[in-house]
Order: sequence, then C-alpha cells, then structure tokens
Amino acid sequence: MSLAFRSGRRPILAGNWKMNLERKSALGLAAAVRERVGERDDVEVALFPPFVYLDEVARLLSGAKVKVGAQNCCDEASGAFTGEISAAMLVDVGCDWVILGHSERRHLYGEGDALVGAKVKAALVAGLKPIVCVGETLAEREGKSTEQVVSRQLSAALAGVSRLDLARLVVAYDPVGAIGTGKTATPDQAGEVHRYLRGVLGGLHDMEVAKSMRILYGGSVKPDNVRDLMQVADIDGCLVGGASLKSESFLPLLEFR
Ligand code: 13P
Repeated sequence: MSLAFRSGRRPILAGNWKMNLERKSALGLAAAVRERVGERDDVEVALFPPFVYLDEVARLLSGAKVKVGAQNCCDEASGAFTGEISAAMLVDVGCDWVILGHSERRHLYGEGDALVGAKVKAALVAGLKPIVCVGETLAEREGKSTEQVVSRQLSAALAGVSRLDLARLVVAYDPVGAIGTGKTATPDQAGEVHRYLRGVLGGLHDMEVAKSMRILYGGSVKPDNVRDLMQVADIDGCLVGGASLKSESFLPLLEFR
C-alpha cells in the first residue's frame, strides 16, 4: 500500500488529454481505461478530454469507476460570452471534475490569479470538483521564487473558499519546466514543494483540512517514474499529460504501488 493511501488520502490518477485525440481514439482510450480500472477503488481515475468529446466519453463511462472532467470552464454562469463553456454545462454532460489554472492557460492564454479564483468559485457553485494547478516557471525556480509563486497562486485561487468546499478540491503542482519536456522533477524536489503547499493550505484554514486534501504532481509522469513519485509522502497522485494519450503508457501508471 502506498504512503499516499496510508495517509488516508485516496490517490488520484488524472489524464489530461489537452488538445489531442479525435472521437474514435478518445472513445477507444476511455473504453480501455474503463476496462482496466474495473471495480478498483483504491485509486480514483479521471479523464479530461477536449470539450467536444466530453458528452460521449461521459456516456461511455456512465456507471464506471472512471470519472470525467473538463480542462477549463468559464467564471461566469451564463450569458454573452462567445466561445466559453459554463461549469453547469459541464455538470449537465456528466463531468465530475474540472482542471483550473493549468500553466498552459496561465501562460499561453493570460489567465491571471484573480480569474482562476473566480473560476474555482464558479466550479464549486455548479457542484464540480476543481483540480487547481499551480507551478513555477523554470526562470522562477532558478530565481529561487518557487515558494513565493506557488503560494501566491494557491492563496489567490482559494481565497474565499469555505473549509467545506476545500474538501472537494484537489491541488496539482505542475512545475512548468517539467511539462512535456521529459524533465520530471525529482521525487525530492516535488516532495519539498508538496510539503510546502500543504503548509500553505493549513495556513489558509487549518492543518486538519490540509492533511485531508490531495496534492497531485504533474510534469512528464511516465510508467518508469510514477512509482518513485508516488512513494513520496505528500504526493497523492499524478496529473498526466503526454503519457495519458495512449493506453500503453497510461494503463501501466495504474500499477504505481
Ligand atoms: P506532461 O505529462 O505531458 O508533461 O504534461 C503534464 C501536464 O501538463 C499535466 O496537466
């Protein structure tokens, strides 16, 4: 049994497909994951397809242990927001989860801390479980401002979130330099930031709730490094990009123990 599970926190394996796959490969991959996960409940598995496939993937996974989430949502509930998707729409098509504040949203599309915070609130109101991403850039790491950056991002995203709602929320630490580069953070590096983030969560509310919350690691997670990462006490799961796109690389991640 992994440390993450001994801690009382059920590990999560999340596959962020980003802007990849098409209908046929998306449904094929979701079916393969459903089959492999079966009735396992020692790990929570969630898939994050592009918006247009959410409905079909959620139907395919209806009744299965594998859950579905979106990669983003709007901070507004409804109205004249061309091109946006509301949190309630995501619930309507069967989503349980939503990823918010991913570094690609922050850095490629200019999403700032305040917008991420507003999205978190909108998602919680609609009944979604947010995975809130934080992470420093390589320059920020080299400038030794990792803690300052992730603490600012987390505090802004969670400002005004009640203790009760925190229990529905998951944090993901995705150091930008590790995303899609093959340069995974070492278990020690990741563990240090995860421990720090748990302390920040404790400071926002209290250590009891902080200890119950899951903090995922994301950034070049692969079958050959998942075990070492998951051994780290404060790493409660992984948010996987590239390796989540093929059953050959995603399914072996389930054997992280
Ligand atoms: P990679 O696993 O491709 O590095 O992506 C990580 C990530 O961005 C998770 O959301």
